[in-house]
Amino acid sequence: MTLSQPTSNKTILQESNEGRLEIQHLQEANLIVSPHAGVDVIKGLNKTPKSLPARYFYDDRGSELFEQICELQEYYPTRTEMSILQQYAGEIAQTTSACELVELGSGSSTKTRTLLNAYHQLNYPLRYLPIDVSAGILESSARQLLVDYPGLQVHALAGTYELALEHLLPSQLPNRMICFIGSSLGNLNSQEFDVFFSHITSALQSGEYFLLGIDLQKPKHLLEAAYNDRLGVTAAFNLNMLEHLNWRFDGNFDIPQFEHWAFYNETEQRIEMHLRSLRSQTVELRALNLTVDFDENETILTEISRKFNLDTLQQELKAKGLVTQKVWTDVNQWVGLLLCQFQG
Ligand code: AVI
Repeated sequence: MTLSQPTSNKTILQESNEGRLEIQHLQEANLIVSPHAGVDVIKGLNKTPKSLPARYFYDDRGSELFEQICELQEYYPTRTEMSILQQYAGEIAQTTSACELVELGSGSSTKTRTLLNAYHQLNYPLRYLPIDVSAGILESSARQLLVDYPGLQVHALAGTYELALEHLLPSQLPNRMICFIGSSLGNLNSQEFDVFFSHITSALQSGEYFLLGIDLQKPKHLLEAAYNDRLGVTAAFNLNMLEHLNWRFDGNFDIPQFEHWAFYNETEQRIEMHLRSLRSQTVELRALNLTVDFDENETILTEISRKFNLDTLQQELKAKGLVTQKVWTDVNQWVGLLLCQFQG
């Protein structure tokens, strides 16, 4: 699916709070409800092996389940990254000095507050540009930030990363840092990875920064436990994608006839999440005019979650002009935080 070129009439700008808050709605933000909706579902379910785009995880219920995943004892990435940020936010702020902070997939901006606090303590002027497809959460967290940080300017962009990065104007402060924390880089396949970085480097001037949080390689049993938690929250999150498709596209997936299957693919160095059909069955998505046959045990790939090697990734980033300035990890070396500088 391709995005059409942004034009000014596709952007709605709201301003409030004496000019401290701007909210920009990029109208093609939600691909799920755009006229192209479902094209990717048809394509994925007609392929062999079958797959579905991971963005269909995130309806309201899916987003709630994801929040629960982040709290699970087995799911180490969220709390580990948070502890790294808490420890090194001051060092990050000192390295970049006064800066415009652009955050991809900002959600409720919880982790980012650690960074905002660090800039605030150093008395650095700061402009925050959160980007998220979920306009509701973007707006409510932006308003709360204005209350909590009296000097802060917020320009929120409701849209996909790609569209929002295309809309960024040159930084109003001497520096810019684009943050992509939360290990989501691992969810991109190799083609999406390259496209993603072409957007990042187009949005940075030489000398500006990119802060990246990634999940690192570790023993297989730890990885598999994180995606097969004992409470079954990840299983519910995976299966909820079928509920979402039923609702959105008038479908009849019989959820108990599918099961969650997640494992670490050592060759590809990634977790794969699949849904497995427990019997041979036929499913219809009436709004898409789509009928799909499943064999018993046939699977749908719903997500990949790549686990990185720090050295290899740094080489890949360098080839894209992003040169690592600092790398931080936790004591177990489970999660990495990289501060890169664009040398374009
Ligand atoms: C959003 N992303 C970084 C999560 C991950 O770990 O790849 C999504 C997730 N899927 C299952 N559990 C968490």
